[in-house]
Amino acid sequence: MNADLSAKCAPAEERGSWGSSVGFILAAAGSAVGLGNIWGFPMQVGKGGGAIFVLLYLVCVFVICFPILIAELAIGRAAARGPIAAFQTLRPRTPWWVVGALGVLAGVGILSFYAVIAGWTLAYVWYAATGAAGSDPGGFFGAFVKDGSKNVWLSFAVLVITAGIIIGGVRQGIEKASKIMMPALFILLVLLGLRALTLPGAAQGLAYYVKPDFSGITNIAVINAALGQAFFSLSLGMGAMLTYGSYLSKKTAVVKSAAWVAGLDTLVALLAGFIIFPAGFSLAGFNPAEGGPGLIFAVLPGLFSSMPGGALFGAAFFVLLTLAALTSAISLLEVPVAALVDRGWCRRKSVILLTLFVTVLAVPSALSQGASPALSKLPVFGMDFLTLMATVWNNWALPIGGLLIAIFAGWVWGADNVIAELEAEGNPFPFARAWSFLIKYVCPLAILFIIVMTARGMFGG
Ligand code: PFF
Repeated sequence: MNADLSAKCAPAEERGSWGSSVGFILAAAGSAVGLGNIWGFPMQVGKGGGAIFVLLYLVCVFVICFPILIAELAIGRAAARGPIAAFQTLRPRTPWWVVGALGVLAGVGILSFYAVIAGWTLAYVWYAATGAAGSDPGGFFGAFVKDGSKNVWLSFAVLVITAGIIIGGVRQGIEKASKIMMPALFILLVLLGLRALTLPGAAQGLAYYVKPDFSGITNIAVINAALGQAFFSLSLGMGAMLTYGSYLSKKTAVVKSAAWVAGLDTLVALLAGFIIFPAGFSLAGFNPAEGGPGLIFAVLPGLFSSMPGGALFGAAFFVLLTLAALTSAISLLEVPVAALVDRGWCRRKSVILLTLFVTVLAVPSALSQGASPALSKLPVFGMDFLTLMATVWNNWALPIGGLLIAIFAGWVWGADNVIAELEAEGNPFPFARAWSFLIKYVCPLAILFIIVMTARGMFGG
């Protein structure tokens, strides 16, 4: 390994590029679609009071996040550099590179808990195939996550697989993996949704999911969670999309690609809800608000056992979910990797060192679901370490990153420069004026308002 780590490499050769627009869309959608859609979204809907959360989420995606997605891709493509160097390239000798540095930290921080949950899905491939969860899937999950060493090993396995794919480089590794997995996942989700909707009790679950109770619309904690979930789900606010944008050619129609990515991501999240809530409400004593991180693991085994060939369906589902998690984990790791490669490091060396670092950081999250009592209920915040990590990065770091990116794109680099970049080589940018208004005024003010009000609510101001 030492020989590899010290091997010389020419940075110019280390930057990759996408093979085609479709390859890019699938890879970016591969980054976006992941645990956030299928594990995170239903959990947040449950915590946030059902359909009202879904509504707030959709507003956040289309009004706040979509314009920022376009901005991130444009910044990356214009600079053709990773997160830190991109800001240095577009605005040299200014402190804006700090936004990229924050993104690098977020990539490492998010991956450290993301790998733990991806480890659960990996284990559930086996459990679903063997029907191990039995008649009490909730109890089974509770016992499973208490096994500290198993959880540490599983997250390590996920990180090693991620590193293996990412060492392959942009085109061979990331793009190939996404092209196979995305369509397969989609088909399986539709099948599962159809089954869930025909279960007894499904109507109640459906109503919970689609009929909003508007009394929750002014709850700032729920709005903050919807915003954080939207950023997390679209892989925004930390330079992942910026980095993927940096591998784009000038020929690609970026705005159209961004619409595809946001559309597919939202569709998959919505589909996940159409599976979990009807299936959940068909179980006795189901309470969506209490599901927490174990929600899908408690609900889905019941759904599989109600289907002919359920073990096979279950195993296939968790294989695809693990693959979806991997294509997202790849993009999380790609952010710090790209930052190091931009500084002249070898891709391989960067990946290995970062993977080791994240493995160590993942340990407290892996032990936080019962294995270590202290980490399972932190004295200060009253939540477990994994939930704390998810809250800090998703609800705070990503929206703050997004706020800064919006200001950079709208005011510092300038909306007109972004539009010129996106219209390069005759590509269309429909609604460019509307985008400009959103990125300059709506996005920054809305994010600022939400985070300030949430902080006031939390700290009693
Ligand atoms: N979007 C991914 C998901 O929904 O699972 C998670 C993620 C990937 C967040 C990459 C941030 C990121 F940069």
